[in-house]
Amino acid sequence: MGKDVIIACDFDSKEKVLNFLDLFTDVKPFVKIGMELFYSAGPEIVSEIKKRGHKIFLDLKLCDIPNTVRKSMAVLAGLGVDMCNVHAFGTKAMMEAAIEGLSQGNETRPLLIAVTQLTSTSEERMQNDLLIDRKLEDVVMHYAKMSSESGLDGVVCSPLEAKLVKEKCGKEFLTVTPGIRFADGDVGDQVRITTPERAKEIGSDYIVVGRPITAADDPVSAYKRCVKEFVD
Ligand code: C5P
Repeated sequence: MGKDVIIACDFDSKEKVLNFLDLFTDVKPFVKIGMELFYSAGPEIVSEIKKRGHKIFLDLKLCDIPNTVRKSMAVLAGLGVDMCNVHAFGTKAMMEAAIEGLSQGNETRPLLIAVTQLTSTSEERMQNDLLIDRKLEDVVMHYAKMSSESGLDGVVCSPLEAKLVKEKCGKEFLTVTPGIRFADGDVGDQVRITTPERAKEIGSDYIVVGRPITAADDPVSAYKRCVKEFVD
């Protein structure tokens, strides 16, 4: 499994995302389509971007009863996505159903990644709102292990957690890590961040980078800088 940089295409229309991708003429980056773009542009945006030669991580974070997730995953696999995700919170039964749905009629299924606890959830909120009376890190590691036992390929996690996830779930278990910033760049609203170079040292498999590329004066150079620091 090769390391790669995934650009978080957090745009609210088809026109904006296609204008952005038009900037990339000699390279076809792996892109992440999130809820905002998917809900505004519809499922056709996946095939449109796919047709242009990009790999796609469809970040819809499914969480529902196993039967619904199984059937929805079969639909997403049919769109030709390369990676998609679920909330580990949906339990093992749901994650196993997700794998079944993705595998239906496909020899090679898209990669399936779990969200453990959202990075926006603090330990205090998890304990008070969700009544999970444990340490946040223990919950994240337990959810990662449960995802691995359910046959998933990896988890979304902070780059700072990637090392521990690998120790717990094996080095083949993928870590997909947002919260990436250049050493000399703006931090924005992210809190636990690291640089592409450091994410490589820690052992992330994929870094997800949004604004440091999408809001750069020269997005193509910013993307190439990420690749140079993280992959090369
Ligand atoms: O612009 P920025 O680099 O902060 O974008 C990071 C992307 O990764 C966004 O699409 C964000 O929703 C996503 N993400 C995140 N933290 C998580 C999970 C996803 O930042 N824990």
